[in-house]
Amino acid sequence: MDKLVIEGGRPLKGSVQVSGSKNSLLPILAATLLTPEKCVIKNAPLLSDTYTMLKIIRNLGVAVEMDGNVLQIKSGNFKKYVAPYRLVSTMRASFCVLGPILARLKKAEVSLPGGCVIGVRPVDLHIKGLKALGTDIEIKEGNVCAKTRALRGKQIFLGGAFGSSVLATANVMMAAVLAKGTTVIENAACEPETVDLANFLNKMGAKIKGHGSPRIEIKGVKSLSGVEYEVIADRIEAGTFAIAAAITKGEVTIKNINVEYLSALIEKLEDAGVTIKRGRDFLFVKRTGPLKPVDITTLPYPGFPTDMQAQFMSLMGIASGISVIAEKIYPDRFMHIPELNRMGAQIFRQGPYAIVHGVKSLNGAPVMASDLRASAALVLAGLIAKDKTEIFRIYHLDRGYENLDKKLVQLGAKISREKQ
Ligand code: EPZ
Repeated sequence: MDKLVIEGGRPLKGSVQVSGSKNSLLPILAATLLTPEKCVIKNAPLLSDTYTMLKIIRNLGVAVEMDGNVLQIKSGNFKKYVAPYRLVSTMRASFCVLGPILARLKKAEVSLPGGCVIGVRPVDLHIKGLKALGTDIEIKEGNVCAKTRALRGKQIFLGGAFGSSVLATANVMMAAVLAKGTTVIENAACEPETVDLANFLNKMGAKIKGHGSPRIEIKGVKSLSGVEYEVIADRIEAGTFAIAAAITKGEVTIKNINVEYLSALIEKLEDAGVTIKRGRDFLFVKRTGPLKPVDITTLPYPGFPTDMQAQFMSLMGIASGISVIAEKIYPDRFMHIPELNRMGAQIFRQGPYAIVHGVKSLNGAPVMASDLRASAALVLAGLIAKDKTEIFRIYHLDRGYENLDKKLVQLGAKISREKQ
């Protein structure tokens, strides 16, 4: 296993190109199962979650070729309909192969994903939506066993206790595209990644309208064709670099992004006293003065993203006052708090709230990564901590960032990746 060793105290300077979006790519890879024809996916980020999803697809008997960031998938007439626990349990997002396998083969068996450190990760909304389309679903030995004579369009309300669900929307949308008749998903996810998936499906010949709004309409079609498609840039990676520039009092241009996807974060960074310039496809971030404390509440898009909560907490850790972070999507998503406190932060958890008492500076320390975005938060803290920070178990980081350490080194950070 690797660890990262970071020498803090170096302001980041320069420009960085972010990779393709992990959370766009994963459902799009699942969607390639909806056609027997070849799909070419460009700008695919090469990170461990990508390889995990490709393993699941290959396990179904689907042909996969990789050429750098270009993936070629040809599902042909695959017959296997099982996604096993040994693979699904390593990455919850793989549950979104359920809809496409069901739509193609009229049956599917996908392991229940189980929980993880950020929360229980229920799939009740996925199951509710697929049942509404005419699927018989049984849970047997931890697997969701689904079968249908024919999927039929339906009006479905897909909101849960925490609002919309990104991957439940994806699963239902991917089943509905080949259903008979029209499906309407209400309280659908509005995330850019959901829009990217709908655009991919429409390019394949699907008839989807309203994506990006809480009401998505899908007119079922008989079949879909193979296409070439480029996934959008990763807005969470872009946001992570914006915070890296702000936390190190640097000056960074983040390139080839859709700036409007970052509005909630940009507003909070400006409230904190960070200078932001919005370009057509780039963001310029600079900080010279002190950081003001800013409260945030995570919400479904376009609200402040839960995937940016941990990173923003690191920033507030050195603000000149007290800020409150409310985590309304995953109320347990606070594994980074004890590790940041090991570095001298003063953060107190109260249920789904974190109270952050900003301190003047953080101190380097050995810390443990626990999940993807918590790892990013520890990297950000290490960039400004005095002396050396060692971050163990950085396989968590490598799940969702392509060469984050290398990109930070190119911006002037002092980071080395060493054997643990
Ligand atoms: C997606 O996960 C993302 N993953 C997550 O990013 C992200 O944190 C999350 O959306 C929220 O934005 C991918 O896209 C691969 P949800 P997803 O269903 O779809 C509850 C990262 O760091 N819920 O939108 O699994 C759920 O517990 C990852 O890149 C139900 O109650 O999340 C949560 O509280 C982590 N029932 C809320 O909805 C369900 O059936 C939102 O979850 C499904 C979800």
